[in-house]
Amino acid sequence: MCQFWIQRHDMFRELGGALSGSVVMLREKKVDPASFRQWFAPRVNFLLSQLEGHHQIEDTHYFPKFQVAEPRLKRGFDILDADHHTIHDLLVSNAEAGNAFLKGLAEGGDALKYASEKYGREADRLLAGLMRHLEDEEDLIVPLLVDREGMGEVLM
Ligand SMILES: [Fe+2]
Ligand SMILES: [Fe+2]
Repeated sequence: MCQFWIQRHDMFRELGGALSGSVVMLREKKVDPASFRQWFAPRVNFLLSQLEGHHQIEDTHYFPKFQVAEPRLKRGFDILDADHHTIHDLLVSNAEAGNAFLKGLAEGGDALKYASEKYGREADRLLAGLMRHLEDEEDLIVPLLVDREGMGEVLM
């Protein structure tokens, strides 16, 4: 029943991993900057905006309902909520580094090297925080869904 929600998490994991991998390929010169840019730009925008939307839905819709259903988990949901704020800040710095990176792609040379390294560091930070958060969230919510089958409707 919570398939859709889990699928979103898997999509974030997969796309986040693919984007990181693509930056490594660019750095190792396995892909040319122009085709990289064409592939990378829409996907990074998609990931950042989808993540922001996903967290908003969780904060305003899913988490409050889960907390009513299981008040003992309040502390857990508070932690997930705080994670969303941390990840939001990471998304903002990731978007900034991403824009600088795309500019660097057009310039090439040292500008590209510097911007791609900076972006790579930002992306790693975001990905590490995100992976941990997705796992913690599933650890808290999946047992609740299994326990109370009806809660699955909250996620639809
Ligand atoms: Fe979340
Ligand atoms: Fe989530």
